[in-house]
Amino acid sequence: MRVHAVELCNGKSKPHSIQTSLLLLTLILIFLTIIPLYLLNHSQSPEPKPSPKIGISGLRSVEKVKECDVFSGRWIPYSKGPYYTNETCRLIIDQQNCMKFGRPDTEFMKWRWRPEECELPFFNAMEFLELVRGKFMAFVGDSVGRNQMQSLLCLLSSVAYPEDISHKYTSDETYFKRWFYSEYKFTLATLWSPFLVRAQDADANGHSLNSLMSLHLDKVDEAWASQIENFDYVIISAGQWFFRPLIYYINDQIVGCHNCNQEDITSVTKYYGYRMAFRTAFKTLQKRKNYKGMTILRTFSPSHFENGAWNEGGSCERTRPFTNQEKKLDGYTLEFYLTQVEELRKAEREGRKKGLKLRLLATTEAMLLRPDGHPNRYGHSRALERNTTIPDCVHWCLPGPVDTWNELLLYMLKREAWRFSVRRN
Ligand SMILES: *[C@@H]1O[C@H](CO)[C@@H](O)[C@H](O)[C@H]1NC(C)=O
Ligand SMILES: *[C@@H]1O[C@H](CO)[C@@H](O)[C@H](O)[C@H]1NC(C)=O
Repeated sequence: MRVHAVELCNGKSKPHSIQTSLLLLTLILIFLTIIPLYLLNHSQSPEPKPSPKIGISGLRSVEKVKECDVFSGRWIPYSKGPYYTNETCRLIIDQQNCMKFGRPDTEFMKWRWRPEECELPFFNAMEFLELVRGKFMAFVGDSVGRNQMQSLLCLLSSVAYPEDISHKYTSDETYFKRWFYSEYKFTLATLWSPFLVRAQDADANGHSLNSLMSLHLDKVDEAWASQIENFDYVIISAGQWFFRPLIYYINDQIVGCHNCNQEDITSVTKYYGYRMAFRTAFKTLQKRKNYKGMTILRTFSPSHFENGAWNEGGSCERTRPFTNQEKKLDGYTLEFYLTQVEELRKAEREGRKKGLKLRLLATTEAMLLRPDGHPNRYGHSRALERNTTIPDCVHWCLPGPVDTWNELLLYMLKREAWRFSVRRN
């Protein structure tokens, strides 16, 4: 548990007698003894006590945030376990409710992410809700993006449950969800767009988990883009859908395909489609004139099929994380990661000219080490429910390591608030 630095401010110092000094010294010694005892006694709860805040003139008090690379690190045992359970959070969906469907082991819930340079603060629901008071936050992407939103709902559920207001905005209440925290006037949404750009089915045999689709790499998917201008935070991601057979279009012309097995079409890599999709998504956010939000790229989330691919009988049976020695970022995971980060960096430079903030939420390295965090056979996925023999090694159990993504998100929001207040003073 992190012990926050206690800042002893002694505004105006006046000369005082030796007795006063001794008294002060004694008081300080007593204090220094009591504080560690207090922390020891109160370290049972995963919710830490609020840390000391620094009053900033003319602004709400903002906690000092140490600048730190929170994305490189390792998983360390944490015996106290998760923030919530399948009993205390009533919003866990079946796809991610591993305990409900009989997952026998619980070790996977007892790890914390430990960045190399600092400690990652615990998630504090009250703090989060105060930071997003009156704001709109959207997760744009596929079901893994939605997975993070589901985790956030549970992390916040210790303080508040939202009202489901999806029906006011969409007829597709599974893929486009909106939640409203009335006490905080905070809107949380998920906008379904697995490719970020416009996509259509292109398979003669209809849609399936591995059917051919066409992607218009230069045309954004308006399903999310048309809604985005009101949002203050947009957490954008994309992943596994880019592995399927795809025909790429630019300017309504075929420019190539990935795994499409059509001799007349030039074969290009999946990285090309992935790069262009992010480029178009970021450009769109720069161009929408009313969009003033902060864009956050949540990086590629690796899957962990072993002994075969997802459609070859592969599964994820491990019950412990990998160590940093056992697993390194490489291969296609590294390539996907680098591709999207490159596009983010380019967009960041453009965005700066327009006063738009783009930020990196780099979860890839941490999640690569968590083969134990997936539902495997203990989740009821909508897409897979017709074939329960396919284990789910893509999504993440709740509670589980995906909760760390929101600890990282809260850290980022606090860091922004701190940077902002420092600039203002
Ligand atoms: C929670 O998980 C336990 C097994 O750990 C199961 O017996 C129970 O039915 C689950 N409850 C809910 C509400 O999912
Ligand atoms: C379910 O998936 C397995 C593994 O891919 C496959 O062998 C089997 O034929 C599928 N069953 C159905 C009913 O689709």
